[in-house]
Amino acid sequence: MSDTIVIFGASGDLTSRKLIPALFQLFLKGRLPQEARIVGVSRSDFTHQKWRDLLSQSTRQYVGDQFNETAWSEFANRIFYHPGDITNSESFSALAKLLAEIETTESSSRIYYLSTMPQLYAEAIKQLGAAGLADDRHGSRRVIIEKPFGTDLKTAQRLNDSIHDVFREDQIYRIDHYLGKETVQNIFALRFANSIFEPLWNRRYVDHVQITVAEEVVVGRRGGYYDESGVLRDMFQNHLLQLLMITAMEPPARYDANLVRDEKVKVLHCIRKMVGGDFANQTFRGQYEGYLSEEGVPEESETATFAALKLYCDNWRWKDVPFYLRSGKGMSCRTTQIVIQFKQVPHILFGAKMREPLGNRLVIQVQPAEGIQLHFETKVPDSDMKTRTSTLDFSFQNQAGEADLPDAYQRLLLDAINGDASLFARSDEVELAWGIIDPIIAAWDSPAAPELHRYATGYWGPSEISDWMQEQGREWFDVCPVLN
Ligand SMILES: NC(=O)c1ccc[n+]([C@@H]2O[C@H](COP(=O)([O-])OP(=O)(O)OC[C@H]3O[C@@H](n4cnc5c(N)ncnc54)[C@H](OP(=O)(O)O)[C@@H]3O)[C@@H](O)[C@H]2O)c1
Repeated sequence: MSDTIVIFGASGDLTSRKLIPALFQLFLKGRLPQEARIVGVSRSDFTHQKWRDLLSQSTRQYVGDQFNETAWSEFANRIFYHPGDITNSESFSALAKLLAEIETTESSSRIYYLSTMPQLYAEAIKQLGAAGLADDRHGSRRVIIEKPFGTDLKTAQRLNDSIHDVFREDQIYRIDHYLGKETVQNIFALRFANSIFEPLWNRRYVDHVQITVAEEVVVGRRGGYYDESGVLRDMFQNHLLQLLMITAMEPPARYDANLVRDEKVKVLHCIRKMVGGDFANQTFRGQYEGYLSEEGVPEESETATFAALKLYCDNWRWKDVPFYLRSGKGMSCRTTQIVIQFKQVPHILFGAKMREPLGNRLVIQVQPAEGIQLHFETKVPDSDMKTRTSTLDFSFQNQAGEADLPDAYQRLLLDAINGDASLFARSDEVELAWGIIDPIIAAWDSPAAPELHRYATGYWGPSEISDWMQEQGREWFDVCPVLN
């Protein structure tokens, strides 16, 4: 059985920066199937050799010291290029011919990776179906779809419908590369392979949860694209809600794609719907100073580059525990972190001598300093009975003898090759996520939209967001990566 990965968007940024380096690294580790072939498709007029040469340069740049000339030559022999236009049916019949030529065995497993403009996803799927390339009688046929998946609930539903016309749900792999990150998967291990955290992981002990995806960069030259999207579509509908689902979900009966996703979906079902004044009280939006001068951004744009949401998950475990989600561009540093803030002790034993403890905190650093930090109170040595916060740190990077953490795309590509969809979004998940974000976008587009707070870059968003949190008796964990 041969395995072929067909990448639509061969000449694009994602292919050269992530997909080919990830496939090459899997090859170096001996994890790519023996008979694996890679076929790139885009309109650019390359030959097989020209594309291999371009990829050799870019892969060398992205994998650094791991680049190995001999291994690359062997890997490059498996790479083919097909000049083709997704909107042209002849390109697909020619692609079918090429695949038949290079696949050495009668049956073959194929993955079609749509790494092209989102407007072309439905068309590419339709053409694959029409050319008979989705027919899985002689081997599996899977399709990987990049983000964004729709721009709202309606477009996501339409896209799901078009894909389901050609592929069954079990053949569809919707990417959210956050799920491929080691630290995100480690949340499963932390929660479900330990007995000491899970008993505390509920409304009885947890005061609130903070999930932050902060970017230091500003929009830059992506202004035209970003202004259409804004932070809610760009970050919340996918990454932040994925992190929320994994943090809040119940343990599945088995680590199985559908059972895991069933539990994640239940979290989205329990998110309390916002009505009336909730949009003003539970959502917060900001725009960095200078955004309006970015290339491609309309002069009077009200697009939010920062947002914070306060969500509730109405179930037995989480009732009335706020989940604060925030994300922004032009922030102090790049960090993705989940903070489980535990409640304070019920009674302060050491009276006035003990400063008021903040309560224990578990900080899960997703990137760039992958690891976990537990905050707890200890006695200040040689003091009467003063306390201070100390930490226990676990850093993935410091694990002796452990190789560098693999890029998320390695894990996701390998899972798709092996037919494991646990770390990919299911259709109901994507639609429910839009169902949470759409009403907020609509409220922000309405005359009753909450104020758009301007903020200087290089901090943690608008200063008012700290006041907002303080009014609720809480504070943000505004700390750049805490693990060395
Ligand atoms: N880049 C990233 O870091 C990143 C991260 C997350 C998600 N994504 C998603 O991944 C996808 C690809 O992103 P990208 O940054 O790689 O985009 P890109 O650099 O603009 O590449 C787009 C690709 O699509 C090809 N293409 C355009 N029209 C075509 C047509 N009619 N027929 C065949 N091929 C066509 C282009 O090649 P030709 O012009 O040669 O045809 C090019 O190879 C997007 O959906 C994006 O949202 C990207």
